Amino acid sequence: MTVISLQHVTKDYGHGRGIFDVSFHVNKGTVYGFLGPNGAGKTTAIRHIMGFSKPQQGVVTVNGLDSWKNASTIQVKLGYLPGEVALPEHLTGKQFIQMMMDLRKVKNDTHCKKLLDFFELDASSKVKRMSLGMKRKLAIVTAFMHDPDVLILDEPTSGLDPIMQQRFIDFVRDEKRRGKTILLSSHIFTEVDATCDEISIIKDGHIISSFNKQELLKMTEKVFHVTVENNMYYTQLVQQIEADVKFHLLLKNEQTYELQIGCCPKDLSQLIKLVANFPVSSFSEVTFSLEKHFMEFYDRRVGGGLS
Ligand SMILES: Nc1ncnc2c1ncn2[C@@H]1O[C@H](COP(=O)(O)OP(=O)(O)O)[C@@H](O)[C@H]1O
Ligand SMILES: [Mg+2]
Repeated sequence: MTVISLQHVTKDYGHGRGIFDVSFHVNKGTVYGFLGPNGAGKTTAIRHIMGFSKPQQGVVTVNGLDSWKNASTIQVKLGYLPGEVALPEHLTGKQFIQMMMDLRKVKNDTHCKKLLDFFELDASSKVKRMSLGMKRKLAIVTAFMHDPDVLILDEPTSGLDPIMQQRFIDFVRDEKRRGKTILLSSHIFTEVDATCDEISIIKDGHIISSFNKQELLKMTEKVFHVTVENNMYYTQLVQQIEADVKFHLLLKNEQTYELQIGCCPKDLSQLIKLVANFPVSSFSEVTFSLEKHFMEFYDRRVGGGLS
């Protein structure tokens, strides 16, 4: 079931800035990654989902409701963590949480307490005395205190230290397990890699690639690092790998008798059989990195890196 849908959405700010003909949808219970460099259009797309911004062309819906026409309903129901949050500096964290609970008409504070615990936030001090990380945590707690079914996270881990970044990834995974639908924007490969099922890459306001992570992993060649014991075996193995179209010799080093061999998952058992004929001193998988895939994709299609 589709929860969030963007169909041919355009918002042109002029000078090539904005988003152009952006279409994607997020299914119930999945985590959708929206990946792109600064200025790519991630926040612009998210602001359309939240109904803060009216598309010049196209339609945005959440649970079948037009985001712009039903903005207030959508904004109350969804959990939205903006990229930049302005918090009232003069309040204590606790006062701010209470204020947000009243505003959202949240009666039960169980979920809020769970979040404070999970993110280890002591909310008793004044917001203006809080570190950037504490402010981010306070924003997280107040964004999700009503335990929403749909979470919209705009670069959620910026400003968090590495331990808290990991904690946040755990939070996203837990929420997914609880059946939540999540859209997460990011310019960080690893957090998208760690959390998302479906991924789109956006650049200069255009979606340049969309894929399912499991599909990508299945299609992608696996790479193995093999070391054999001496030069004779090394030469023979190189010959046999090169002679078989199923295998690809990606790297070789005749000084150290090392090879890197690529093969599709379906041909894996044949590769293992072939390698097993040799005295092997090491055999390991070179783990697939989404980051590497993205960088290759970026270099090929548009040139240059992500940031
Ligand atoms: N309200 C606005 N008026 C004019 N230009 C804007 C506005 N909002 C965003 N932009 C421009 O649109 C582009 C996309 O911005 P944004 O969606 O914030 O990117 P991201 O979140 O991916 O970093 C940027 O070039 C930005 O300067
Ligand atoms: Mg942004």
